[in-house]
Amino acid sequence: MSITIGKDPDTAALPERIKRFPFPYSGDSYRYSANVEPSRKVVATEAGAWGGKLVDIDEYYLSDVKQRDEVLDRDPSRIQLLPHMRSAVWDAITTLLPAMAEENPDTMAFYREGNDCRWRNALQDLDVEFVIGDDVSLPMGPLRFLGSQIQDDMVFLDQREDALWLDAGLVTFAADWSLGFDVGMRFHEIHHPVPRVLEEKIVSRAEQFLMRLQPGEQYRRTNWTLTIDRRLDTSTETYPNWAPDRATIALDPALPDRVHLRVEVQHLIRLPHSGAILFLVRTYLLSLSDIAQVPAWRARVGQVLAELPEDMAEYKGISRYRKAASDWLLAG
Ligand code: HEM
Repeated sequence: MSITIGKDPDTAALPERIKRFPFPYSGDSYRYSANVEPSRKVVATEAGAWGGKLVDIDEYYLSDVKQRDEVLDRDPSRIQLLPHMRSAVWDAITTLLPAMAEENPDTMAFYREGNDCRWRNALQDLDVEFVIGDDVSLPMGPLRFLGSQIQDDMVFLDQREDALWLDAGLVTFAADWSLGFDVGMRFHEIHHPVPRVLEEKIVSRAEQFLMRLQPGEQYRRTNWTLTIDRRLDTSTETYPNWAPDRATIALDPALPDRVHLRVEVQHLIRLPHSGAILFLVRTYLLSLSDIAQVPAWRARVGQVLAELPEDMAEYKGISRYRKAASDWLLAG
């Protein structure tokens, strides 16, 4: 007889989206913390594992980048770039593309000689040559180009006056916030709407940690909320398209298929040349029906949702349906 510790017995049969899901809870209750850990550390879960790569590419790759493209065509304000951050974007290109090539040698390759580069991405049938620092050598603006190669959203922070400033980004899949509104703000101001974190000094500690990052250092953390349907674009800009569902979902018999656990794997990287901080936000969505395929997850998500303090549930926008979601999970 073989016993697999910590795993449900039939995990091999689970679909990839469940096996690779970055399950965010380590206990039956959840509170905010400055939860950072080194990047690329593989984390085993009850269903499989996640976290071995800096830029994770999964079965949703092509559809995610296509959705991003459509959002950007509709709403160019999802890209923001203050002029002094141009070099940080090039720094991100020359940091992330080689990492992707290293992590996916079968489909991607990055060559560099001086400032001349070549990027091949077989998943997109793409082979492009460009010159570092020369915006017009790319088929589109550098930030949009990088956003067309990765599923992650990107935020760039400048460090000056002993603070971090959100001075650039490409964010099409925000969980109820707006890049256009936040650009130019300090790290502290950005976190102002979040309950508890200022009083508990989480934001100051996180900012101090980020300001001490050394060139090339890479860390990550997770964050989570719930989203109705597999909807990546829940920015403030599209609020009328998604927010009304939150009022009706509790009574919808399709709740287990429609409510998704939304997990962000957020990387924090000190770019080596510009000195900017790159904040990558990769969003994963898994329906409660899928969660329920892993009995340990079903129970844990049910308990976390039932126990979450009301101010946190309110901020996350889930207060009207978290009980219905948790009741369904805990009844299983
Ligand atoms: C260790 C670093 C960090 C910590 C501990 C942290 C903590 C948090 C927490 C607890 C929330 C509330 C999330 C929720 O309940 O759904 C939040 C929201 C947010 N964070 Fe961070 N964060 C960190 C890094 C960053 C960075 C680098 C940025 C980029 C500027 C950022 C931008 C945001 C934004 C835009 C929100 C949403 C705020 C809103 O509702 O308007 N965070 N953060």
